[in-house]
Amino acid sequence: MSTPQLRPELVNGHSSAAKSHIQLHGMQEGVTGLIRTSLDAKEFAYCPYSKFRVGAAVLTRDGKVFTGCNVENACHNLGICAERIAISKAVSEGYRDFKAIAIASDLSDQFISPCGGCRQFMREFGARWDVYMSKPDGSYVETTVDALLPQSFGPEDLQMKKVQRIPNEF
Ligand code: THU
Repeated sequence: MSTPQLRPELVNGHSSAAKSHIQLHGMQEGVTGLIRTSLDAKEFAYCPYSKFRVGAAVLTRDGKVFTGCNVENACHNLGICAERIAISKAVSEGYRDFKAIAIASDLSDQFISPCGGCRQFMREFGARWDVYMSKPDGSYVETTVDALLPQSFGPEDLQMKKVQRIPNEF
């Protein structure tokens, strides 16, 4: 199994050496552009084990887009989903306020649905932002993090009132 070559020309004409985010403008603006960008990101998927390509593009509140693809590993449980890569890229560059994420796969008859772990990962950065689950033809279903993970547990819950107890009691 060989490591696939990167194809930077597929990412909106940006070279891989360019900055890690894309600023959407003109024709690329809006939902369609975000989905197109997630479809492009899917081309970089490293998935020699599952052969299941996933791409993601997360849009920050100030209009920056960070992409991700799934990255698998010979030690299978170390694989990382596309959504988590995209979000982690954004967070690692100082962006935590998200407006939407688009997800793409090769499934022709189904809209790609994010795994449970990715839903919780999105939830860390708020429940009220949009998720676009697409098909390769660009059609999509719009939902929210809250709808995908109702009654969720988030960072705020750690601050809620707790019973007083002596550590190591019980
Ligand atoms: N995958 C994602 O990247 N995102 C999802 O939400 C669903 C699953 C990846 C993980 C693994 O590399 C492959 O798809 C098959 O599960």
